[in-house]
Amino acid sequence: MRIIEYITFDDVVIVPRKAPVDPQYVVLESNITRNHRISVPILSSPMDTVTEQDLAIEMSRLGGVGVVHRNMSKSEQADMIRSVKNASPDFKYLFNTININELDKSNLRSDKPLIITSDDTPTGVYVPTNILSPALIEKIDLVLRLLRTGLVKPSLDNNGKLLVGAAISPFDSKRAEALEKAGADFLVTDIAHLHNIEALSALGKLAKKVSIDIVAGNVGTREAALDILTTVENVSGLRIGISSGSICSTGVVAGASVPTLTAVMNAREALEELGLFGRIPIIADGGIRGPGEAAKAIVAGASAVMSGRLFAGTDEASSLLVRVGGKLYKTYRGMASAGAMKRRHAADRYSRPSKQLEEGVEGLVPYEGPLVKVMSRMFFGLQASLGYAGASRIEEAWNGILARVSPLGAKEINPHDLVK
Ligand code: IMP
Repeated sequence: MRIIEYITFDDVVIVPRKAPVDPQYVVLESNITRNHRISVPILSSPMDTVTEQDLAIEMSRLGGVGVVHRNMSKSEQADMIRSVKNASPDFKYLFNTININELDKSNLRSDKPLIITSDDTPTGVYVPTNILSPALIEKIDLVLRLLRTGLVKPSLDNNGKLLVGAAISPFDSKRAEALEKAGADFLVTDIAHLHNIEALSALGKLAKKVSIDIVAGNVGTREAALDILTTVENVSGLRIGISSGSICSTGVVAGASVPTLTAVMNAREALEELGLFGRIPIIADGGIRGPGEAAKAIVAGASAVMSGRLFAGTDEASSLLVRVGGKLYKTYRGMASAGAMKRRHAADRYSRPSKQLEEGVEGLVPYEGPLVKVMSRMFFGLQASLGYAGASRIEEAWNGILARVSPLGAKEINPHDLVK
């Protein structure tokens, strides 16, 4: 028996290297599957307190992408995909847009800010601050700040519709086909341990029945990544990480884990062995608390990160808003928590029975407000991190270096020695 060592996000820091450009010019565009490239490399997790249509729409408008969960019947999930596809791809709904030539004739409404356009280009925004709610003003400010960078663009398909992913079980090819028909751009397998002979062979068969991209996971070892890449034809991405999720109890109840950072390094090794690194994206899933972890995952080899925790507290998430002791929170739960499993069995009782073991917990996260707040923090934070890593774009960040810090060092790099 041998014991190996794992590296987690908190074990390492990014080694600062000569930045080729100012952080504000760092481009975050990246592939999330073989065929889809987006401007902000972040996916929202397929979880029933996170990604339904509202979050998926807003994620894509802000340059990321959402993966709609599967804890419902396949027709409900297909309807959600269709709603995303039918949504307006930009933020025009927030404004009254008016062409400058029509200004005199118009009957101005002031419940929304006014964008004055000359052709199709916004030339100015007038915000009647006395009428709009402070929350809406803040949201509009943040949206405009992001869009004005010129680096954040809505994630679109070839027809100019918002991009969207959908979660599937590898055993449910009927659902996969229904989701493809509904317009999903890519499918993401949603299973805690895809490295299982039956699951891999089922996915191999499913992959032959659909033509859209498939992201396969979750796995965490080099062997698992190699097995996926050699048994599932045309796999278009790897969803990587086992048990780092904030709501995950797998590491405790099952005693099994590959922390996300180590899992990414393992997947990179497998892809490099097959000459596929950089062609099949690694999506680092679980344990992302902010831009720091996301940047570490990217330096280790990820093309994008996936998170539930970051988004569960937003207005657009499908979680419930609750007030406790005068403070606002939103509910967040693992997909293998008791509550989520109960809903799954009710919604999809004809599918293959899933595990009976609870490997997730349920809890509350602080209420965050609109998604754009979180996406701004992630976007500007990632630009800064990649600057430190010595990169002007994601692919360059893969040449970055991570350094291991001692437990004392990890303590020192957190704010310390303040009274409050
Ligand atoms: P978080 O963003 O750190 O909360 O991690 C979210 C990720 O945890 C998801 O994308 C899934 O990969 C994983 N996950 C979701 N539900 C469960 C669960 O019940 N148990 C273990 N892992 C889960």
